[in-house]
Amino acid sequence: MDLNTRYLGLDLANPFMPGASPLAEDPDMALRLEDAGAAAIVMHSLFEEEIAQHAPTADGYLALLHRLKQRVNVPVIASLNGTTAAGWLRYAALLQRGGADALELNFYHVATDLSEDAATVERRVVDIVAVLKESVAIPLAVKLSPFYSALPHLAAQLDRIGADGLVLFNRFYQPDIDPVRRTAVPELRYSDSSELLMRLRWLAILAGRVRASLAVTGGVHTALDAVKAVLAGADAVQMVSALMTGGPAALTRVRVGFARWADEHHYGSVREMCGAASLAHSANPHEYERANYVRILRGANHS
Ligand SMILES: Cc1cc2nc3c(=O)[nH]c(=O)nc-3n(C[C@H](O)[C@H](O)[C@H](O)COP(=O)(O)O)c2cc1C
Repeated sequence: MDLNTRYLGLDLANPFMPGASPLAEDPDMALRLEDAGAAAIVMHSLFEEEIAQHAPTADGYLALLHRLKQRVNVPVIASLNGTTAAGWLRYAALLQRGGADALELNFYHVATDLSEDAATVERRVVDIVAVLKESVAIPLAVKLSPFYSALPHLAAQLDRIGADGLVLFNRFYQPDIDPVRRTAVPELRYSDSSELLMRLRWLAILAGRVRASLAVTGGVHTALDAVKAVLAGADAVQMVSALMTGGPAALTRVRVGFARWADEHHYGSVREMCGAASLAHSANPHEYERANYVRILRGANHS
């Protein structure tokens, strides 16, 4: 089984990598992940707020990038997280100069403004990527949330202005409410495989219809999860929760199990598998659209 894949214009030995998280804050862990078979390393994000409030944070991030580049041989993808262009531009250039092989831009925007329409929210994303695309030469991946009303249109716009990859999806941390104090309670919960389903649908809708490569992030825990993501159209498979709980061995387990499944099902390469279950390849595109929804709701039983 040929596990090679191409992601963000980078030739990778396989699709598997740790997603943005504290995992790569420790270069020793990054090396262990590389030894476990990770084909690239995604750094945790440098947050716009941290850049604004505390310049040494950004210096520390650049120093970490430098250490990671010395420690691992696989590409290192830096990550910027924010909502405006201003803070990012300078650091995107610095990260490029610091040796980042690519940049992942995380638009963690929670729409709370009643006067801002969907087109304005989307235009901001496109404008920022356009500015960055003009200013840095390394590949840019855009990590999106699922909460856009016309995701394929946004994806097509990002594709048109040269985004090299789309990462689906950002996982919003959903604060609970403390009913006595009447305050939001931040909660960090690791994912499970059920979170993959929404990603599969949107990967399958976009695969083969945008030039940008696609990565899945969210809900990959087993080899079969990874098989489904690649069949839906993922060129790269990012894992965080599974690695935070299971360590680097979880990446090896998924990579080996993925290759075994592919062999057993007579796939010769990741390229052959990628998008084989996408909408573009589907004999029945309605599976991803309304027909399936109607059929399932009509078929529901109750006791
Ligand atoms: C502890 C933790 C820290 C994270 N830090 C970042 C981050 O700095 N930047 C980012 O874009 N995503 C971050 N994420 C989100 C992950 O990259 C990933 O998209 C999400 O956890 C879904 O993938 P999973 O189901 O494999 O965990 C973080 C997730 C966790 C659990």
